[in-house]
Amino acid sequence: MPLIEARGLTKVYRLGRVDVPALRGIDLEVHEGEYVAITGPSGSGKSTLMHILGCLDSPTSGSYRLDGRDVSGLRGRALAHVRNRKVGFVFQTFNLMPRMTTDENVALPLQYRGGISRRARLRRARALLERLGLGERIGHRPDELSGGELQRVAVARALIGEPAILLIDEPTGNLDSKAGAEVLKTFREVHDAGNTIVLVTHDPNVAAEAARTIRLVDGEVAA
Ligand SMILES: Nc1ncnc2c1ncn2[C@@H]1O[C@H](COP(=O)(O)OP(=O)(O)OP(=O)(O)O)[C@@H](O)[C@H]1O
Ligand SMILES: [Mg+2]
Repeated sequence: MPLIEARGLTKVYRLGRVDVPALRGIDLEVHEGEYVAITGPSGSGKSTLMHILGCLDSPTSGSYRLDGRDVSGLRGRALAHVRNRKVGFVFQTFNLMPRMTTDENVALPLQYRGGISRRARLRRARALLERLGLGERIGHRPDELSGGELQRVAVARALIGEPAILLIDEPTGNLDSKAGAEVLKTFREVHDAGNTIVLVTHDPNVAAEAARTIRLVDGEVAA
């Protein structure tokens, strides 16, 4: 059974009285343990697709099964519930909380989920930061870290809840090549540990890390 099974996904954004078709019928399967890259020109629908795959948004039509469950009809809290349990997100802009330390940032998704003491949450966050080679950055705030370190903290935050899938949108867009290489190495380690990754990128060198590449053009999968 595929982890991700999308059939005929469409997304139409409404801008005033104008309909903007962002996705025009996407079929996609991703199996457990895969590392897939999504590429395509600006405006081709990559982020829109990631938002739907990650249960941040729902499709206008089509079906989407995530880890065996049809989630295409879910909205609001029901969608957020699935997202909190199944999905880890990494964004181009890191999106860390500036006033919290690295370990507090990483522990945050566990707080949203509930049921784990603060002590236990922070213990897990620190262990994960150690595993990703960021032990020396525990207790520091984001403004004390380099771009590559910030992105790896964001990876730890995405992984802390043991999601079924890691969704990564343009992760190296704000990084120089050395920091980008560090982050890619972390993705490789995370993938080697058994995690499923879907990553959006403009950069052919980043896409080359993945075992399979899907190209979007005008909201469709290019042949
Ligand atoms: N919230 C929104 N409201 C209206 N239109 C949107 C919205 N988000 C995206 N769009 C439109 O949908 C289309 C696809 O956008 P999307 O952000 O998915 O592209 P992308 O492939 O991620 O581009 P980029 O490479 O620049 O990040 C574009 O025409 C965009 O203008
Ligand atoms: Mg985008």
